[in-house]
Amino acid sequence: MGDPVSDIPVREGRHRKPIHLGAHFPGVNNTTVWKVPEAGSQIDFTSFEHLAQVAEDAKFDFFFLAEGLRLREHLGRIHDLDVVGRPDTFGVLAALAAVTDRLGLAGTINTTFNEPFEVARQFATLDHLSDGRAAWNMVTSSDAFTGENFRRGGFLAHADRYRRAGEFVTVAREFWDAWDDHGPHRVVHRGDYFAVDGYPVLPPGPQGRPVLLQAGDSADGREFAAAHADAIFTRHGTLDAGREFYADVGRRAAARGRNPEHLKVFPAATFVLGDSAAEADEKARHIRRLQVGPQTAINFLEQVWGSDLSGYDPDGPLPREDPTFDAVTLGRTRQGDPREIAARYRDRAEADGLSIRELVIEMTSRQQFVGTPESVADEIDRYVQADACDGFILVPHLTPTGLDDFAADVVPILQERGAFRSEYAGTTLRDHLGLPPVDAAGAGRATG
Ligand SMILES: Cc1cc2nc3c(=O)[nH]c(=O)nc-3n(C[C@H](O)[C@H](O)[C@H](O)COP(=O)(O)O)c2cc1C
Repeated sequence: MGDPVSDIPVREGRHRKPIHLGAHFPGVNNTTVWKVPEAGSQIDFTSFEHLAQVAEDAKFDFFFLAEGLRLREHLGRIHDLDVVGRPDTFGVLAALAAVTDRLGLAGTINTTFNEPFEVARQFATLDHLSDGRAAWNMVTSSDAFTGENFRRGGFLAHADRYRRAGEFVTVAREFWDAWDDHGPHRVVHRGDYFAVDGYPVLPPGPQGRPVLLQAGDSADGREFAAAHADAIFTRHGTLDAGREFYADVGRRAAARGRNPEHLKVFPAATFVLGDSAAEADEKARHIRRLQVGPQTAINFLEQVWGSDLSGYDPDGPLPREDPTFDAVTLGRTRQGDPREIAARYRDRAEADGLSIRELVIEMTSRQQFVGTPESVADEIDRYVQADACDGFILVPHLTPTGLDDFAADVVPILQERGAFRSEYAGTTLRDHLGLPPVDAAGAGRATG
């Protein structure tokens, strides 16, 4: 958490924005801690149900599921964080629709390996089953690596993935829009990636189309969001980077004739709460050590060094050997010259007396909000009112109870201040997010 920056304009009074909150199911991401007794199953329905019910009781906007279609591996070894399992998105969200009432249900489904007709049908189904609470996080995914699990292997370059994604969502919209009071209408689409001729098989759900989220940070990704998304899931979580990102995607939306207020921005945010700032700091340090286990620390370095470092002691010093240049890295791809990065890491470790594991903790696991419930509530509100974002997708470190303390201790403070809803005003996710209804004419365009 940074110090208050007085020269940053903050919205006040009637210009204040409502805060929006999403609950990320702590799946196989690198912040999840699962080798502790309190860590529950990543697969049992009770885990999904618990997190969703805590989020709904706290009046969160939505529940969020990420997606990984292949176990990450490196130098022939499976990343230990990935072996907890990851059930199919639509099955989980459909089951959650039955045990929740108002909570939005957001699922990540990639546009690279699916077909628009099928995904349009699946999200329309979820929107019906949930009475208008479906959201689709449209991702393009890494190609060659994930593609090996499909019939195609690697087949699309980065820019082509976004071209396919743009055409994918266009065709999906054509299917959602092709049903009115007179029944279904024929969809005929001939494009670079899809040649489709047919009818939707069910009417669109209560929202007209699901809320569309986008996650991906390149210029192409941002343009894709500006053209098609209602909201962006981003990693830009600091105040300065957030403000820059918010302004950038707002400009891109405006350039396309859209109202930037209809493109919401939600950074991912981790958090640690304590009764005092010191207690929260101590807890945060402890959690970081759990997040970066010995194998995770060695894996991280191997992605820079490109060679097998399993012989090194994670609690010892960094390797003296230089990285190999033909390194193929999966997962967190690093930019830049591996030799320079390695030198930087060594300098940092030597200057601060850090072991391999301590260095990796420093590089990868800084929690965003650490403090008392009051200070965390202050910070979240400040970020939103400073136009660094419209809210956060909170990423707890524990399954399934990781959101419990935030819901019990931070949300009531935000509610008392009128910064966050105490009741749901509407029934659909579009209502919760303050998004305009999809136009009845079914133009398939973002209104505004
Ligand atoms: C915050 C964030 C979350 C993401 N979540 C997922 C995910 O759950 N599943 C997935 O396959 N890709 C995910 N992605 C990857 C993007 O879909 C995209 O493939 C990747 O970021 C490369 O695109 P870019 O160069 O535009 O960033 C995510 C990206 C970001 C920035």
